Amino acid sequence: MKKTVLAFSRVSPEMAERLQQDFNVIIPDPKKGDLNEQFNEALPHSHGMIGAGRTLGREQLESAKQLEVVSSISVGYDNYDVGYLTERSIMLTNTPDVLTESTADLGFSLIMSSARRVAELDAYTKAGKWKRSIEASHFGTDVYGKTLGIVGMGNIGAAVARRGRLGFNMPILYSGNSRKTALEQELGAQFRTLDQLLAESDFVCLVVPLSEKTQHMISTRELSLMKKSAILVNIARGPIVDEPALIKALQDGTIRGAGLDVYEKEPLSESPLFALSNAVTLPHIGSATDETRQAMADRAYTNLRAALLGEKPQDLVNTQVWKG
Ligand code: DGY
Repeated sequence: MKKTVLAFSRVSPEMAERLQQDFNVIIPDPKKGDLNEQFNEALPHSHGMIGAGRTLGREQLESAKQLEVVSSISVGYDNYDVGYLTERSIMLTNTPDVLTESTADLGFSLIMSSARRVAELDAYTKAGKWKRSIEASHFGTDVYGKTLGIVGMGNIGAAVARRGRLGFNMPILYSGNSRKTALEQELGAQFRTLDQLLAESDFVCLVVPLSEKTQHMISTRELSLMKKSAILVNIARGPIVDEPALIKALQDGTIRGAGLDVYEKEPLSESPLFALSNAVTLPHIGSATDETRQAMADRAYTNLRAALLGEKPQDLVNTQVWKG
């Protein structure tokens, strides 16, 4: 008998078709009523789940008694209760590597657009305010040759650092749990404590995973250590930054600006950030390109299929549940 898969988001018609070759597939459909109700009804029958962006822990998965695998179409898995899934021997898989370069591109575009005020001046032009040459009050700040601080030198951090070093001649500083000697050699990157990095960098790019340890790692004290001319970029997870503290720092001029792709609460439908011309606010699009989302979906599909057919999935997060 075919196993059942609950496909809860980011599932294209092509992916649904591929899944249907091996599994019974349930896809909650807004035309058929409340999505959460359909999701909850499907849980007791589901052996596998695939999707992204849902909080899944004890409360949500209690009734999913047959569940064997959750295949997340994301690299981050802070929205899953890994301890609970592991306790129940449910495999959790993610999609590393395939989104590294596009997420780094987005990080760099936030550096560029914050520094050169791209979004703000685009709005200015379209509002018909460009009547004569712009004045110094609208000037940006240079990127080339400035110091780039990477908080969390994983794959994405290294990809942002490469762009900065090789494309923009930026000295690279980094902080994190371990020294990356290969990158120190490749890029001349220098290790710093977080406090030192904040004090020395012109651009600080956050690329750490969210955990209890990294939650609010950037708050009032840390922002006050940064240069008044510095720009903070967050392409990791919103709760790494204490958002009210950041808003105050942007309002008071404690730092020059921020480029944000992620927020403490998403979607961000209203926020004091919207009134701040020195904040660039994107709707969590780090991996949102046609090619990358396709690659993530393919990888998640492969992980799910392997797990449900009894093979060890390539990107098993909680490896301790694998008994094969
Ligand atoms: C991820 O994969 O974790 C990115 O944030 C995109 O969702």
